[in-house]
Amino acid sequence: MAAEKQNLQQIQAAHAELYDSEAALFDDISLHEDTAGKLRQFLLDRFSFDGKSVLEAGAGAGRITDYYVDRAKRVVVTDAYESMVHMLEQKYKGVEKVTAALCDHRQLRARFPEPFDVFLSAFSFNYAFDPSVGDYDAFLEEILPPAGQHIIIECCGFYETFDYLPPESIRYVRALEKRFQKTVLPTEFVFSSPEQAVAAAKVLFSPIAERVRQQNRAVIPEMIHVYYD
Ligand SMILES: C[S@@+](CC[C@H](N)C(=O)[O-])C[C@H]1O[C@@H](n2cnc3c(N)ncnc32)[C@H](O)[C@@H]1O
Repeated sequence: MAAEKQNLQQIQAAHAELYDSEAALFDDISLHEDTAGKLRQFLLDRFSFDGKSVLEAGAGAGRITDYYVDRAKRVVVTDAYESMVHMLEQKYKGVEKVTAALCDHRQLRARFPEPFDVFLSAFSFNYAFDPSVGDYDAFLEEILPPAGQHIIIECCGFYETFDYLPPESIRYVRALEKRFQKTVLPTEFVFSSPEQAVAAAKVLFSPIAERVRQQNRAVIPEMIHVYYD
């Protein structure tokens, strides 16, 4: 039962299965996130992508890439799963300035040692962190690629900040909070029915599935945090 997947390892394993073998299903769910476009607006208002080189890690199907790709000079999108890289390759086929690469976050510095103007990672950098990394602050410095501007976007809770985040995820967010400034964007996933909201929660946000079911609403509130230099 999905609601039992409460701990970080179980959640990460379930997500890995989804990214690896059901990339299209994940993409479909993510299109219901922030339908009001608050994140897109904030990114384009607050940061400049004009003529910039951008390294975007954990780009998935390129949902966030689409926000700024027209403005950038060169974009490298990475993901740890072949299925996602394949979707990126298909999406940006023929767009010469975009290159897709299979790369785990922990290999970014080795693979891309030259600094980009912008390093961006949305709803993804957290996957590099679990208790085995030891000191989260030091590990963040160790794997963060060099860039003029870092932008790390994470879901930091549903309904309220830190709601339903496993303790290890909160440790990771605390490391981001020490290193970066932040802006909080309260937003929502908007589905077409309460049943669709429950189904999506079971797949992607298992700890809240029961609450979503009880609320019987098509909307799931989400707290998006944007961390940046
Ligand atoms: C929640 S999705 C976000 C995708 C995209 N950034 C977006 O906002 O739509 C997380 C993405 O991170 C990728 N990912 C998971 N673990 C990763 C890792 N260790 N290194 C690189 N990418 C990873 C997944 O394959 C997935 O595409």
